[in-house]
Amino acid sequence: MNILILGSGGREHCLAWKLSQSKKINNIFAIPGNAGIAQIAECTALPINKDNFPSILEFIKNNNIDFTIVGPEAPLVEGITDYLEGNGHAVFGPSKDAAKIEGSKVFTKKFAVRNNIPGAKAYFFKKNDYEKAKEFIEGLDAASYPWVIKADGLASGKGVLICNSRHELLEALKDFFIENLFGKSGEEIIIEEFIEGFELSIMCICDGKRIIPMEPAQDYKRIFDNDKGKNTGGMGSFSPLPFVDNVLQKKILERIIFPTFESLKKEGIIYKGILYGGIIIKDNEPYLLEYNCRFGDPETQVVLPRLDNDLLELLVNAGTGNLGSTELAWSAKKCVCVVIASKGYPETFSKGDIIYGIKDYSNKSDTLVFHAGTSMDKGNIVTNGGRVLNIVSQDKTFNGAIEKNYNKIKNINFDGMQYRNDIARKVAEK
Ligand SMILES: Nc1ncnc2c1ncn2[C@@H]1O[C@H](COP(=O)(O)OP(=O)(O)O)[C@@H](O)[C@H]1O
Ligand SMILES: [Mg+2]
Repeated sequence: MNILILGSGGREHCLAWKLSQSKKINNIFAIPGNAGIAQIAECTALPINKDNFPSILEFIKNNNIDFTIVGPEAPLVEGITDYLEGNGHAVFGPSKDAAKIEGSKVFTKKFAVRNNIPGAKAYFFKKNDYEKAKEFIEGLDAASYPWVIKADGLASGKGVLICNSRHELLEALKDFFIENLFGKSGEEIIIEEFIEGFELSIMCICDGKRIIPMEPAQDYKRIFDNDKGKNTGGMGSFSPLPFVDNVLQKKILERIIFPTFESLKKEGIIYKGILYGGIIIKDNEPYLLEYNCRFGDPETQVVLPRLDNDLLELLVNAGTGNLGSTELAWSAKKCVCVVIASKGYPETFSKGDIIYGIKDYSNKSDTLVFHAGTSMDKGNIVTNGGRVLNIVSQDKTFNGAIEKNYNKIKNINFDGMQYRNDIARKVAEK
């Protein structure tokens, strides 16, 4: 089969790497891809927004592509699956209606409430309700903080603010409704209770009829060690999670994940693709934080290396409604991912810095280098984004995987590179 991967991050490099091991793979294409993906796929620079869906379809026809896997959320929310399927092409990724589960936090929160899926208590306000929202905030008890305020629509991970005081919450409300910092995405908001706990994510493969959970993972959002500094797209991850036992896993699946899939069906939404649950655990009880409609980045990079199934077969079967009685098989190895970011990230990022130490590296050992923001310039691999590289190692122990990662990083160098030193150390064996 010839396949097309849409996207340009570490997630997509990991997908391409795993798919390249599939039995039925012929050629892999990527739009737009990056310098790492280009080592295993033919990359073409085309925009993947709605206006350009017709050019993507033309590309698919011209290159005899049999199946397309959509990496990022934006084209899914814009309806790329409906568009390509409507033109007779098979896709891995949810329809526009189903992708609302990520595209609209208001939709998902209301859906969760009416289907008794546990989560934070929430209040909804539209832009023309500014005064009502202000009054609501002024009525909140000072002792009840923090409160969380969220933009309804996609905001690249920047649309959620945790406010520790009335002043902060009122300022945030202004950012949404008066300053319009989030544009259309912020025209409706949620103000919800803060849940104190630890987070995990669980990505599930769906074919419209069946949902198959993959092993959970945990990621690190803050830029600096010990969860200090600004939020990022994710600075590291690991899987499996030794602190999630079978009892807790069962609660997550039976109270949140399975009822979601069944309720979507009942409400007429056939979900296929990845359903990614963002879960928070408080006092050993799980609560839903959010859903994403695609593979997580950098969670994918620690889950797929442990998966023993043929990924192409799995994704094609999911995309075409044919998972049947498929079961997933997992390696017992521990997997850890450290993200290397560029100078200035997450506020800004620098482009064009030459990356030393990875040029001739091929992903053939227990340590993998996935490219995120990279490109080629005059024969050099250079930085081209905020998150630049993902170093991913597997080992019998977390200690072993951690050591392999940081040993590999010692050989990598570029101007202003930054990474966290504490990834997965909390689960390292004593
Ligand atoms: N109700 C809540 N209680 C505690 N923390 C929250 C809550 N809602 C969101 N958060 C925090 O904010 C982060 C981002 O929120 P999320 O809903 O996942 O939005 P997104 O990933 O789209 O930015 C979460 O990972 C979590 O750390
Ligand atoms: Mg999130």
